Amino acid sequence: MAIHKLRRFVGEIAELVDSTASETALLEQGGLALRELIRVDDWLPEAYAQPSPDRYQQFLLYTDVRQRFSVVSFVWGPGQRTPVHDHTVWGLIGVLRGAELAASYERTADGTLRQSGEEIRLDAGDVEAVSPAIGDIHRVRNAYDDRVSISIHVYGANIGAVRRSTYPPDAPPKPFVSGYSNTTLPNLWDLSKEVRHS
Ligand SMILES: [Fe+2]
Repeated sequence: MAIHKLRRFVGEIAELVDSTASETALLEQGGLALRELIRVDDWLPEAYAQPSPDRYQQFLLYTDVRQRFSVVSFVWGPGQRTPVHDHTVWGLIGVLRGAELAASYERTADGTLRQSGEEIRLDAGDVEAVSPAIGDIHRVRNAYDDRVSISIHVYGANIGAVRRSTYPPDAPPKPFVSGYSNTTLPNLWDLSKEVRHS
């Protein structure tokens, strides 16, 4: 497992968050870093790649000590989907394995939500951004009915603890806090091999 790739990625995002005031620049440069992270599927530990038959899984891989950002693996069982939901913070979504279909929603003049445009397909290696500034409400599903898909997300907060909303059809928005599927995190910090061989 090439877990050093995840360690390098969280270092890059920490530096970007430290040095970048513009969300546009952060999403652009963070998107390049995420694209590099998902380019080769050889680093995600198995424990954080496990689907559940009941619902999609969200595993926390890392959160910044000041909760300025977090990284998660999203594991979709065959045919699984999210409700229509928001994020309230910036986010980058990159597909590591399989493929996803994402539909964006926008508010109409009378305040109701409407799907804007066609569903878009994200294949392994593709990256997409969300944020309140560029469009924050969407619905996502596994593109496959017969296999698992996995995406890696980075968000501008400890996303599992953020008060967000889902948007059921013909009903008021429903508050939700997503939480995480795991109670322990991958160990990015065992550098003993590198140290012994340097
Ligand atoms: Fe989302």
